[in-house]
Amino acid sequence: MASEGKNLVGVDVGTSSIKVCEIKEDRKGGRVLTRFGYHPLPPQTIVDGHIMNAGAIVEGFDRLFHKVKRRDVALRVSGHSVIIKKITMPVMTSAELAEQINWEAEQHIPFELADVQVDYQVVSRREDQGQMDVLLVAAKKEEIGDLTNLAMEAKLKPKVVDLDAFTVQNCFETGYGAPDPTQTIVLIHSGASLTTLNIISQGTTAFTRDVVNGGNAVTEEIQRQLGISQEEAEAFKCGNAHGAIPEEVPSIVRGVVESLAGEIQRSLDFYLATSGEQQIHRVYMSGGTANLVPLQEELSARCQVDVSVLDPLLVAQPDPGSVDPVALQGRSAQAVVAYGLALRKDKERRLS
Ligand SMILES: Nc1ncnc2c1ncn2[C@@H]1O[C@H](COP(=O)(O)OP(=O)(O)OP(=O)(O)O)[C@@H](O)[C@H]1O
Ligand SMILES: [Mg+2]
Repeated sequence: MASEGKNLVGVDVGTSSIKVCEIKEDRKGGRVLTRFGYHPLPPQTIVDGHIMNAGAIVEGFDRLFHKVKRRDVALRVSGHSVIIKKITMPVMTSAELAEQINWEAEQHIPFELADVQVDYQVVSRREDQGQMDVLLVAAKKEEIGDLTNLAMEAKLKPKVVDLDAFTVQNCFETGYGAPDPTQTIVLIHSGASLTTLNIISQGTTAFTRDVVNGGNAVTEEIQRQLGISQEEAEAFKCGNAHGAIPEEVPSIVRGVVESLAGEIQRSLDFYLATSGEQQIHRVYMSGGTANLVPLQEELSARCQVDVSVLDPLLVAQPDPGSVDPVALQGRSAQAVVAYGLALRKDKERRLS
């Protein structure tokens, strides 16, 4: 992707909250975070990736963009309505690929072509074998349309739509540098309702998978077993409740975390078995649920791998004049997608 033009404002509409990041880049490649906004959404605003309470989202946009002039935004579309597939094709020119891609998409995507927006990128070429790997992405137009229409209702101008897996990768590569081609690295982004895996091997995406599970499952189980409100359960889970935490909480958390970590482990095992690779070298976690220490520990133990939390501050430090450091405190893992979106530019060209 060529990086031209001005950075867009990154707007991540998640199940539990909207996150906004704005990054300013200078000509020497220096970056600073000039804005961070966070707006919680009421439960049931988005259910299974569908927007159920459009008003709550528009109200969030209005608050986050109150008196804000720059309205060119990059949005994130939920993995519920997206399919990512890596396909192998014969080596061809970009023009030939552009002609061929819809036919390929039809073979690989279980949706009607008319209902989806197809995008693609060549990730590697193996000239000696006459083959190339292409990452094919198909997102349902209806779901993209719902979100972009809401954004436009709030007088935002959506210029780019991206996916969690790719925005996290963008943030990771910008902050930590190009991945070591000899290592297999897994980026796990776990939010309230969805967990996205992106396995990076030989420097590019080799496998992605969405697990429809996240932090909400933990909160709901605490709520159900203790018969308490969502707010109380959430505070117990995050360790910021006012009173003492009931002694049952850690074992409830562990129970749910085991099943989430189990699902993740099965995907990683599947990848290792089918790719023939020997090991995963490192896991970086992001999203609010990355803060759940028992999940980090369980994954590390099951997969015998170091697990760290991805730090977006390596991409850009907050500008003390315009970002309240308290607003970002404890929320950096949650800001990773918005950070990745804020790295997208208004004039960038897609290369394929
Ligand atoms: N300190 C913490 N400890 C444990 N969980 C936390 C902590 N902080 C946030 N979370 C959890 O992270 C989740 C929210 O994360 P995030 O903002 O990444 O999700 P989202 O983008 O709203 O949802 P999604 O992308 O799944 O639609 C919630 O389930 C919240 O309880
Ligand atoms: Mg999210």
